[in-house]
Amino acid sequence: MAIETISKDAKKSIIQLLNRLLQVEYDLLFNYPRVIDKLVNIDRIHDEQIINALEVMGKDSLRHFDAVDKLIKKLGGETMWHIDVLDGLVDVEEILVRQLERETWVVSWYKAAKKAAEQNKVKVRGFLGRSVGSSDALPEDFVDVNDIISLCERHILDEERHQRLVRDSIDRLRMLINKRATDK
Ligand SMILES: [Fe+2]
Repeated sequence: MAIETISKDAKKSIIQLLNRLLQVEYDLLFNYPRVIDKLVNIDRIHDEQIINALEVMGKDSLRHFDAVDKLIKKLGGETMWHIDVLDGLVDVEEILVRQLERETWVVSWYKAAKKAAEQNKVKVRGFLGRSVGSSDALPEDFVDVNDIISLCERHILDEERHQRLVRDSIDRLRMLINKRATDK
């Protein structure tokens, strides 16, 4: 079977999408401990389920950040990000609502990156223009299209799980806040 990579243009657009994604992943990775801190120490809501959801997403963000950063570099791009630092007085419900929106964007960007890879496959040509059928004789900047697609697929599953986690956390937080108000 011939080994396939993707076209130069597809690389460019995938790099752009991945950089957009990293912004969101990095924000969460950086800010989730602050959100937990605000929830527990200021709002006095010590709820294992919400804390656990935030921790799972934080850990996934770290893993995703690492994998996406490596892929961007492999594609010949440069990783770009900056942190949107949350201040200590954030409203946790507001943050979760914003996060839900971001999870939705992230899923659509991974899907767009996967589609760009699938639709722009290019056979790797080796010596005398023959398509290359084994991993030897591959150009140095070679990226296997299947690696891009499988990374996107794995991350899409994680991000869809995040959507559910955030949705459940919002419901639970509202329930706990209401309960506290009626218990008073
Ligand atoms: Fe996520």
